Amino acid sequence: MAIPTTRAKDKGQIAINQKKCTGCGLCVSVCKDFSLVIKDGLATTSETEVFGCIGCGHCMAICPTGAITINGREISPDDLFTLPSASEAAHYENLLALLQRRRSIREYTTEPVDPSLTDRILKAAATAPMGLPPSDVHVMILDTPQKVRQFAADFCQYLETMKWIASRWFLALMRPFWSKSNDELFKKFVRPLISIYTEGMKKGDNLVLYDAPLAMYFYGSPYADPADPLIAATYAMLAAESLGLGTCMLGAVHPMIQNGRKAASFRKKYNIRYTSREGVFVIFGHPAVKYSKGVNRSFAAVDFYKEQNK
Ligand SMILES: Cc1cc2nc3c(=O)[nH]c(=O)nc-3n(C[C@H](O)[C@H](O)[C@H](O)COP(=O)(O)O)c2cc1C
Ligand code: SF4
Ligand code: SF4
Repeated sequence: MAIPTTRAKDKGQIAINQKKCTGCGLCVSVCKDFSLVIKDGLATTSETEVFGCIGCGHCMAICPTGAITINGREISPDDLFTLPSASEAAHYENLLALLQRRRSIREYTTEPVDPSLTDRILKAAATAPMGLPPSDVHVMILDTPQKVRQFAADFCQYLETMKWIASRWFLALMRPFWSKSNDELFKKFVRPLISIYTEGMKKGDNLVLYDAPLAMYFYGSPYADPADPLIAATYAMLAAESLGLGTCMLGAVHPMIQNGRKAASFRKKYNIRYTSREGVFVIFGHPAVKYSKGVNRSFAAVDFYKEQNK
C-alpha cells in the first residue's frame, strides 16, 4: 500500500545497514507510519506499517550513524543536509519584527524583481510543511509585469463570460442548496468583485494582480490537502519580506478557474496543471509606499478548552 500523489504512487524503499545500526531506536520513535521496529536489538522494517513509507525522511535525518536510507517518493540520501546552527536561526524577537513589519503591498515601483530573489523565495517556500510527501504543491510564475497584465486581462475577459455565476436568477436557483453565508458572500462580495475587476480592466486598471512585477500562483493537485499551497504561499510571502520586497496574497482568481470547459482552457493556456481544492496568488515587488505604523490584528476567538466537572 502507498499514499498516492501526482508524483509518487509507490511507497518509499527503506534500506537498513545493520552493521552501522546501534539499536538506539530513534528512527522507530519518529516514524509515525510504524514502518520500523527494533528486533534483536537492531532496526528493521515492520510488518505493521500503516500506509507504507511515505518518504518523510525523518528516520534518515535522525539516525546518528547513517544506518538507514530511504529511496523513492522523490527522496534519496542525497537530500540530506546539515541543519544550520540554532544561533544562525531567527529568534522570536527577530521573527516577530519581520511578521509585524509585513503589510500587504499593492503599490510597486517599476523596478523588476531580480531572478535571484525569485530563486531565494522559492528555496525558502519549498521548506514549508506541505502535507504528505512528496509535496503536491505546484507554482505557476508570471515573472514580468507584461505577463502579469496579460494574465489579468485574460482573466477579466474570462470573467465577462462567467457573470451569470453571481446573477440574481442563478443565486435564486441555488439558494435552497446553499447556506445563507454563501448566498450573502455571492451577493455582497463575488458579484461586486467581478464587476470591479472587469470594469477596472476596461479602464486599464489591473485590480486583479495590481500590475506587480512578479506573481506566483500556488495550487495543489486533487490529491493535495487544501492547506498545502496556502502554507507554501505564506512561507514565500515571509521570505520575500525578509528580502525587502512587498507582497500581497490574492485569493479571488483560484475559485473562479476550477470548474467547466472555459476554466479548463484558461488553465491550459497558463500551464496550470491541475484543479485543486485551494490555491492562492502571491504578488511581489519593490514597494512604492512605506508604512511606519502597523495595525493590530486579532483572532475571531481563542478558546482554551476547560475540562467539564465529572
Ligand atoms: C487567502 C487570502 C486571499 C486574499 N485575497 C485578496 C484579493 O483577492 N485581493 C486583495 O486585494 N487582497 C487580498 N488579500 C489580502 C488581504 O486583503 C490583506 O491581508 C488585508 O488587506 C490585510 O492587510 P495586511 O495583510 O497588511 O494585514 C488576501 C489575503 C489572504 C490571506
Ligand atoms: S521515511 Fe518516514 S515513513 Fe519512511 S520509514 Fe522513514 S520515518 Fe518512516
Ligand atoms: S536511528 Fe539508526 S542507529 Fe538508531 S536504531 Fe535506527 S537505524 Fe539503528
